[in-house]
Amino acid sequence: MLSIDVVAELQFQLRHLDNSVIYILGEGSNTVFLEDYEGTVIKPAFMGINFEHTDTHYLLKVGASENWHQLVLWCMQHQIYGLENLALIPGTVGASPIQNIGAYGVEVKKYIQHVEYYDLNDHNHKVLDTQGCEFAYRDSVFKKRLADQVLITTVIFAIPKVWRPVVYYGELQALSEPSAMDIFNKVVEVRQRKLPDPAEIGNAGSFFKNPVITIKHFIHLQKTWPSIPSYPVDTIKVKVPAGWLIEQLGFKGTKIGGIGCHPNQALVLTNDGSGTGEQLLKLARAIKGAVLCEFSIVLENEVRLIGKNGPVIL
Ligand code: FAD
Ligand code: EPU
Repeated sequence: MLSIDVVAELQFQLRHLDNSVIYILGEGSNTVFLEDYEGTVIKPAFMGINFEHTDTHYLLKVGASENWHQLVLWCMQHQIYGLENLALIPGTVGASPIQNIGAYGVEVKKYIQHVEYYDLNDHNHKVLDTQGCEFAYRDSVFKKRLADQVLITTVIFAIPKVWRPVVYYGELQALSEPSAMDIFNKVVEVRQRKLPDPAEIGNAGSFFKNPVITIKHFIHLQKTWPSIPSYPVDTIKVKVPAGWLIEQLGFKGTKIGGIGCHPNQALVLTNDGSGTGEQLLKLARAIKGAVLCEFSIVLENEVRLIGKNGPVIL
């Protein structure tokens, strides 16, 4: 837990602020400010990687403001394996539990043991275990009951010492008896090929979540769209790649002003630098409307959209 001095400092700085106009910012890679925000932006600076181990696990206590990919690299350098599928995801460690970041068959919930946070309502420092975090696909308690109510200070990871590769997703399947470093290198290579680099062209990764629909709905869609892909969720639901749906409707490569639907990955919306919040909303709403009309699927945005006074609903 944080020292009493640090908690006292947070209380001193934050007590007088109105929660409804606070936005906690990590590195902004899943946030789009549609216009100038009139509230208070807090950019925490909790740094440090504290390392211990038990007979079975490596325990990493990591400051929320550490960069996620740097943590993955640190683990690789220290022969701690498990996070390699999550290489190159932009952003901070503190944001990783918010939407339970995931890629290439792994979600971060698998390794999170505890999340420590400062409660912006009662101004106490608290801890949640993994069950309390209510992790789900791109979701957690921090996007529901505790949405915008917490400042995450530390994330504690428990990584088993016995490593098992996860290679069932996409191009990873082609790897034969890979080492963790082979998986890391492949993930980096695929991501660099498929996803636009935010340092070169503005984007926030997948704009929408991949929708989860009933198998009954899916079978109905297959009659018109026989090649529609899906991933199993449970006995009654499947997940459908939103990028595929958006591509079928002809949006890939289209633009409204400076905002575009990426030519290689239809799920990513980009800004060439001249785009406006208004143009982004226009394109996103056009995509959402067309997907609803053609597939009877409601797309939900993954990206946080922030207007002048706070969150904006698509
Ligand atoms: P921000 O955008 O700054 O914040 C995101 C949310 O977290 C906001 O609600 C914010 O208020 C909250 N938050 C941030 N820090 C804290 C804190 N300390 N305490 C409380 N709340 C906080 N995501 C994936 O899951 N998988 C991917 O494969 C993936 N690929 C991406 C590829 C690209 C090119 C880009 C641009 C994004 C991608 N993303 C992916 C999305 C993004 O990387 C993640 O959502 C990441 O966790 C965001 O981190 P951030 O620090 O930039 O968060
Ligand atoms: N597809 C298309 N056209 C497109 C894009 C995708 O047809 O333009 C289809 C292809 O059939 C492909 C399938 O969609 O096989 C899946 O594509 P991809 O592997 O690129 O993954 P995704 O479903 O588009 C998700 C995550 C990504 C994550 C990758 C890899 C979500 C919303 N997105 O994308 O996460 O990196 O899988 O695991 O779940 C993010 O969250 O920001 C993000 C980039």
